[in-house]
Amino acid sequence: MLTLGIESSCDDTAAAILKDNGTLLSSVLSSQDETHSPFGGVVPELASRQHLKAIVPMVQTALYRAEVTLADIDLISVTQGPGLIGSLLVGFSYAKALASVRNIPLVGVDHMAGHILAALLEEEKPSFPYIALVVSGGSSSIYLAQNTQTFTLLGRTRDDAAGEAFDKVAKLLNLGYPGGPRVSKEASTGRRSAIRFPRAWLEENSLDFSFSGLKTAVLNHCHKEKQNNSSLAVSDICASFQEAVVEVLMTKTLMAADIHGINTIVLGGGVSSNPRLREAMTEACAISGKKLFTPSPEYCTDNGAMIALAGYFQFQTAGPMPPEQDVYSRSRLT
Ligand code: KG4
Repeated sequence: MLTLGIESSCDDTAAAILKDNGTLLSSVLSSQDETHSPFGGVVPELASRQHLKAIVPMVQTALYRAEVTLADIDLISVTQGPGLIGSLLVGFSYAKALASVRNIPLVGVDHMAGHILAALLEEEKPSFPYIALVVSGGSSSIYLAQNTQTFTLLGRTRDDAAGEAFDKVAKLLNLGYPGGPRVSKEASTGRRSAIRFPRAWLEENSLDFSFSGLKTAVLNHCHKEKQNNSSLAVSDICASFQEAVVEVLMTKTLMAADIHGINTIVLGGGVSSNPRLREAMTEACAISGKKLFTPSPEYCTDNGAMIALAGYFQFQTAGPMPPEQDVYSRSRLT
């Protein structure tokens, strides 16, 4: 069975062809980083317009690289939400039209399900149940994944997402966009313990996150340094900020695993490509005897392959999507 996966929830237009639930025949992506870079963040209208330009070439390239045609496709899986409505509508409407004209079954999947399942694209696959930490530009959530279809939200951010905090700190330090990779590059030469930024643990045993206070602490630190005419040690700020984010993400994920008696942890979302987060999680899992699965960086960030995989599983149990479905901005995984 061949599934065409289409992703356009934010600022990447991606498509992939997946054979059954395991063999990826192609996975292509058109990034909008250059478009949004001058603004230091994603401009929704520009994102929608870029998707319009890229959607047809991306699907055609995915088919070409997989050496198949639309006539070979058995299922189309497209991101239905969460995300920017204008961006989602481009991929979703295109997928609907393609499915209707070609008489191909269509499923709309939750983008978060894609991130939770992305580790299954790798050769060494986690087995269920597992705890998934999904950290991206729009969300920071911990899920209990019982199987390919059943996900329970255990904790989420109450304000900024982890990726959003990285992006905002990068903007503050004039590091450019996208911020995450730039902050992490600077951090690699800085001292993690140079500045003690706050960690928001929230209530005892809470699995929720909060990163807005940390972002403000970085801002206050920069103001104070300027007032004192001290030169800002950008790499130290980045390393100390990153450490505060990583410590909270790691501690709460391990806590979720302990609370629910789960031995397997999976990472997903753009921030999970952060080398320090991966290193800290690897060390902590080794110490506590847990198995850690981290998708390769191209499956951490937005991609069409995870959408194809999530759609494949969804179709097996729920069949095609009713035609009157629409996109949505907030995840339906609760
Ligand atoms: O999953 P993703 O590609 O898109 C969303 O669904 O949001 O995640 C993008 C986010 C951005 O905020 C980006 O700055 C962050 O992931 N990111 C990183 C790193 N690479 C990407 N954050 C920290 N360290 C990185 N190496």
